Amino acid sequence: MKRIAATLLVALALAAGIAVVTVQVLAARSYADVPLPEVRSSTDPVVIERGAYLVNAVAHCPACHLPQGEAKSYGPLSRPQLVGGHRWDLPYGTVYSANITPSMRFGIGAWTDGEVARVIRTGVRRDGSLSPFMVLGVGDIADDDLSAIVSYLRAQAPVDRAAPQSEYNFAGRAALAFFLRPKQGLPALADAPRSEASVERGRYLVHGPANCAGCHSPSASLGAQAPLLSGGIPAFDEDEPGMETVAPNLTPDPATGVIYHWSEDDFVGRFRGGRVVPGSPMPWEAFFAMTDTDLAAIWRYLRTVEPIRHEVGPTHRAVGANP
Ligand code: HEC
Ligand code: HEC
Repeated sequence: MKRIAATLLVALALAAGIAVVTVQVLAARSYADVPLPEVRSSTDPVVIERGAYLVNAVAHCPACHLPQGEAKSYGPLSRPQLVGGHRWDLPYGTVYSANITPSMRFGIGAWTDGEVARVIRTGVRRDGSLSPFMVLGVGDIADDDLSAIVSYLRAQAPVDRAAPQSEYNFAGRAALAFFLRPKQGLPALADAPRSEASVERGRYLVHGPANCAGCHSPSASLGAQAPLLSGGIPAFDEDEPGMETVAPNLTPDPATGVIYHWSEDDFVGRFRGGRVVPGSPMPWEAFFAMTDTDLAAIWRYLRTVEPIRHEVGPTHRAVGANP
């Protein structure tokens, strides 16, 4: 009896050991063979200016690439230096955003255009490691927009300051090993003409660079087949302990769609109104700088999606208040 128990214990310990080693090895796997997008940066001021709009407004890179506090208080029309250092304390570890100024030592100064474009499109870094935040937090961006973004980043002043390294615990490494994969840009998201507030343009923005769908869909961010845009999952309020926020249902459902009773002017006007909930992750500061045309395009697209009945409850509430 004793011997059987001992054998079982040894077997269990061995299995656990194998599991730990498997997680370590898989989490450290390199994706360096993921191809670099064929994207070239440009010094054309028109392209750089379009990149400025994409980075600072639509794709809201400053929401993550500025230190705590600054990310939600920078002037909506300012173009801050993207020095990184935003810190997230998560069950998976402590994550810091990177310095993405063209500093040779501390930023992306030494990266090629293709390497910068690849981490934005797929989440794969220069060294082949995977960045979970870049996989989950950035939408699919068309080639010419991607090159405008890289062109803008290149045209910035370098800031020679190191952002702290992210540290993933066992749960984080397990997620990296088994769940997260490089993002694969959806070929269906071709860019529509920028000058028109068309439904196609709105679809591209919502599922692409503005990534509204990422936050406003239940676990869409984990790649599950979730009903798109029917509301997000609750997240801890970064600024107010004990509180949580949840992204509302954006589908045109008469009963539960938050914007069902709004007009196009109400919708655009809401974005000009800016932040109401201080700790909300919604990047109001960035979206404030979006053009009327792009906001109208988003509105027109949202009116065409399938209405889904899904009540998320109050969007800012005490943790657990809405089980
Ligand atoms: C949801 C938050 C988030 C958003 C939005 C975001 N990033 Fe990041 N990004 C990160 C984090 C965090 C890292 C650091 C890597 C890690 O540990 O995941 C990173 C890494 C990077 C890197 C690689 C640098 C390095 O040294 O690893 C580049 C380049 C980059 N981001 C560019 C961008 C651009 C351009 C945008 C806007 C289009 C953007 N990011 C939007 C969170 C974000
Ligand atoms: C990083 C996550 C995130 C992203 C990206 C995001 N949202 Fe939100 N959104 C939220 C959260 C959380 C709330 C609820 C708290 C608040 O109102 O700020 C919200 C609220 C809203 C509201 C309701 C505001 C009100 O006054 O009731 C609208 C409308 C909205 N988002 C539309 C959008 C659109 C359109 C996009 C893309 C252009 C978008 N969101 C992108 C997280 C996000």
